[in-house]
Amino acid sequence: MDAIDSAAGPGSGPPAAPGQDPGRLPPGRAISTTSIDSGAAAAFIAARTSLAAVPLVPEIRLYLSRAEPTALWQQTETELGRADLAPPFWAYPWAGGIALARYILDHPGTVAGCTVLDLASGSGLVAIAAALAGAAQVTASDIDPMSVAAIGLNSRANRVSLAVTAADLLASGTLRAEGGAVSAEVVLVGDAWYERRLAHRMLTFLGRAQAAGARALIGDPGRTYLPSTGLRPLASYAVPVWAGLEDTDRKQTTVWEPGNGPAGCRRRRD
Ligand SMILES: C[S@@+](CC[C@H](N)C(=O)[O-])C[C@H]1O[C@@H](n2cnc3c(N)ncnc32)[C@H](O)[C@@H]1O
Repeated sequence: MDAIDSAAGPGSGPPAAPGQDPGRLPPGRAISTTSIDSGAAAAFIAARTSLAAVPLVPEIRLYLSRAEPTALWQQTETELGRADLAPPFWAYPWAGGIALARYILDHPGTVAGCTVLDLASGSGLVAIAAALAGAAQVTASDIDPMSVAAIGLNSRANRVSLAVTAADLLASGTLRAEGGAVSAEVVLVGDAWYERRLAHRMLTFLGRAQAAGARALIGDPGRTYLPSTGLRPLASYAVPVWAGLEDTDRKQTTVWEPGNGPAGCRRRRD
């Protein structure tokens, strides 16, 4: 179990101040990542969201919500009979993931023929983009069981096949999940630099993955804990975002590569 410690939960306290953090989702209070009834989770997602094209990435349709995030969080917990779920990151495409998905689809050689890990996958947006771009095998990783359910629905809606793991790969710091190693020549991270502890663990993980020969790419609009040094910009996009989620309707978002450049999969370079 991974816990995010903070004060507010759904219905308790105001949304977090907009700005650097991912949208207006309040920080989670102690949450549980223990499993949920996957059928009930999928039914909830299908009933409370609708399939829509992702802004800037119209090739991909996801089950997305237009509900105010705290209200959706509350509704999820009520209908699933839980009081310890994570915020519904899975219901929205985040700016970092949108930029990274756009980059991958425009530069398929980044992942084509490669084994790919999408860390902090949320809706599965980046993983789906990698699969559509021709990755040999894609694993989507998210510790939130609601996210795992959403990734299942979203991958089917886009007719791609993904492996999904709810294991906390960051806890071990290695490409290892239950049942063995996760194979990854390319590690992708969309919008995961919004929390200090997560950012620290992510940086450690990416460093180890790169040392083991993987290529790492990050999509991020400049969240609070994005490292300020050691990142090389590859592309930047004015990403349309929902003003109900962020503090604006457009976020300039960059695709970064940590360290000194390509390692990892060299099957096809674009
Ligand atoms: C802001 S969302 C980004 C989702 C997606 N990458 C995107 O850009 O649309 C961050 C995601 O990180 C996930 N997360 C947090 N800690 C994690 C961990 N240790 N391992 C995997 N995912 C994690 C959350 O559950 C959430 O779905």
